Amino acid sequence: MTASTAPAGPFQITVQPSGRAFAAAEGEAVLAAAIRQGIGLPYGCKDGACGSCKCRKLEGTVVHGTHQPRPCRRKRKPPA
Ligand code: FES
Repeated sequence: MTASTAPAGPFQITVQPSGRAFAAAEGEAVLAAAIRQGIGLPYGCKDGACGSCKCRKLEGTVVHGTHQPRPCRRKRKPPA
C-alpha cells in the first residue's frame, strides 16, 4: 500500500498493484476503512491476532495501534 492523493480524506491509501484507493478517518484502522468502503483486502480476525491482513508498506507512515506482536514477527512473506 502507498500513500496517494486520491480520494479525499485525512489519510489516503492506495493498494498495489490494483491501484484502488480509499480514505481512512482519523484513528481508523486501514483494514476497517477498507472494509467500510468495500475494498477487498485479506483478513481473518480484524483484531491484530492472525496476521492475515499483513501487507508491505511501500511509502508513507503507519501508526500501529493496539495489536498482538506475534503475527507481525512471523516469517510469512506478505503479498508482492
Ligand atoms: S485480520 Fe489483521 S491480524 Fe487478523
